Amino acid sequence: MAHQIGYFVGSLASNSINRTLSKALIKLASDELEFTEIPIKDLPLYSPDYDADFPAPARALKEAIEASDGILFISPEYNRSVPGALKNAIDWGSRPWGTNSFARKPTGIIGASPGGIGTAVMQSSMRSVLSFLDAPQLNAPEAYVRFDPEVFGEDGEVHNEGTREFLRHYMDEYCAFVQRVLAATAPGHI
Ligand code: FNR
Repeated sequence: MAHQIGYFVGSLASNSINRTLSKALIKLASDELEFTEIPIKDLPLYSPDYDADFPAPARALKEAIEASDGILFISPEYNRSVPGALKNAIDWGSRPWGTNSFARKPTGIIGASPGGIGTAVMQSSMRSVLSFLDAPQLNAPEAYVRFDPEVFGEDGEVHNEGTREFLRHYMDEYCAFVQRVLAATAPGHI
């Protein structure tokens, strides 16, 4: 049976290059993974005032994370960190206190930018957030993608063999990582 992967696109832009990257990654991934986007655009800004009664988009977000076998973040870097919309979604998923939906979920982080830094600093910020949330992370390979519009088609095609194989390898390693974490946390595993 395929593993269910919930994925976040950390950009609200209608022409997001990270959304384009997400389409490419899904196309290149093994059939052992099935992908469902976890939407973030309708979430209000998190406040502890909501803890007693989460709004519907936040309840849906937590349910989607909890129903996933693994989580994949595909995000831009904003001002050398995690975009506010994505951080807000993570804050929602982590609360109310004691109900952190990310705990023990295998995660991967990848992102694209037009420049050579390829979201490296955002990914470093995300790693400390996910560590705090007790979410195991794929440590290697890392994937910092410099987005070239001639390489990435809108439909998710990748028109460069080296880039295509690099991303396919990333997704194969992500799949193997999810399977390792699931096996290690399965009932009966010592
Ligand atoms: C950026 N951009 C950017 N790029 C980068 O490599 N490092 C950075 O720190 C930033 N900071 C930043 C802040 C803000 C507010 C914006 C709007 C943009 C540029 C960014 O990589 C570029 O706009 C990408 O196209 C964003 O990804 P999406 O939204 O197209 O997926």
